[in-house]
Amino acid sequence: MSVTHDLVVTGGTVVHHDGRHRHDVAVRDGRIVAVGTDLDTTGATVVDARGLLVLPGLIDMHVHLREPGMTEKEDFASGTSAAAAGGVTTVVDMPNTFPPVATAQRYRDKLDLVRGKAYVDFGLYGMIDHDNAGEIAGMAELGAMGLKLFMGQTTGDNRCPDDAAIFRGLEAAAADLVVGVHAENDHLLRLFGERLRESGRTDPRAHLESRPAFIEVEAITSIVTMATEARTKLHIHHLSTRAGLQRIVDLRAEGHRVTVESLVSHLVLDDGAYDTHGNLVKLNPPIRPAADVEALWAGITRGDIDIIATDHAPHTAAEQAETDVWKAYGGFIGVETMLPLLLTATTRGALDVEDIVRLCAYTPAQRWSIPHKGQIAPGFDADLVLVDPTEEKPLDSASLHSRHPVTPYDGWVLTGSVVATYLRGGLVHDRGEVVGPPSGRQVVPRRGSGLRPVDAPVPALGTMLTVPTRELV
Ligand code: NCD
Ligand code: ZN
Repeated sequence: MSVTHDLVVTGGTVVHHDGRHRHDVAVRDGRIVAVGTDLDTTGATVVDARGLLVLPGLIDMHVHLREPGMTEKEDFASGTSAAAAGGVTTVVDMPNTFPPVATAQRYRDKLDLVRGKAYVDFGLYGMIDHDNAGEIAGMAELGAMGLKLFMGQTTGDNRCPDDAAIFRGLEAAAADLVVGVHAENDHLLRLFGERLRESGRTDPRAHLESRPAFIEVEAITSIVTMATEARTKLHIHHLSTRAGLQRIVDLRAEGHRVTVESLVSHLVLDDGAYDTHGNLVKLNPPIRPAADVEALWAGITRGDIDIIATDHAPHTAAEQAETDVWKAYGGFIGVETMLPLLLTATTRGALDVEDIVRLCAYTPAQRWSIPHKGQIAPGFDADLVLVDPTEEKPLDSASLHSRHPVTPYDGWVLTGSVVATYLRGGLVHDRGEVVGPPSGRQVVPRRGSGLRPVDAPVPALGTMLTVPTRELV
């Protein structure tokens, strides 16, 4: 008896970025080999997915797993366990560690450090710092998924580069790498922060007031202008304001090319969260008033926002309980709750599951040229997530897999649960249990793909919210 397939997921509804079909998915040697009806199950492990949705594993382009140097907050084992349990099969880890990943040698050291610890696949960003343009080719050679540029101060000891250093970094990245930007003007946020601090404010809302929208707008304008001149592929991480989004729309109309990310936390929380959660929800850029949140959702509906990510940014439980806003860290966990929160948003019509697939799997893979990821189709990695779209239950933070499972979403009643997660055909998570041993591998972008930034206009919306993807490659 010859075995054609190792694994066949049968009877589920396969959700793509542009539609859904009742199809089986057949897997061999970690890759999807067939998607269709009545596929051969002879000798294969058969997974009955009737009543479930089958999604491509999500790609979270923005996580901080804290290795090296901050493993009291999180590490690759705990952070990727959380990812697996949340239906995220690829994470892209940020370089603001101790030490920061700003040289080829540190990039290599980090690869050695994390290899063998991850439960899902991972990409690693390098960093553009104040003087490392000469290191960028080396980091690209080692497989850097992109380069992070912190224009504004955040977790870690990252001296924000001046414009000359930024421009040299953008030029060095231009051949191959996406540059992802934390777009806040450092000088201005420090000025506003000092004024508030001197006035005696220590409450959580002071953080929001210290980073008004124009600080984001100014940084966006500056970096988009420079990146166009340097011909760099630019991505704005965690865009947070109505004014920032409007500036992006205007810049695109002028011919600038840039992709934009929105965070789950900026979409599901507004500034009322400071009253409920205090400094736990301190985030850079800050959780914003409801008008900004509405503008971000409208941007998703129109297709102005290209991807959704988490900025999973863990700190210790003690750090998250800090009551002085100036001593508290920015960021909180999120990789495990992204999919349930977005599935819950589908129940109120904010987006469709197809949109989740597009924003959190298909477009990230296109934009960053991640081979074999982001789609359920023959030839792609068998990264599959089984989802029960109807199960309704309160989120229990104690069930989360992060080292410090402190979340503002504790007790939220969510509709839609992640039943199981497969990485390259292997089960890595089953109903809340992470299944080892860790089998995650480094993913590297396709080099020299001639990838072009986003340019084409967005077609008008149809009846479904699914927005046809703009030309990315
Ligand atoms: C992030 C972190 O803690 O590493 N914090 C945050 O508030 N967003 C850094 C970042 O993404 O800016
Ligand atoms: Zn950031």
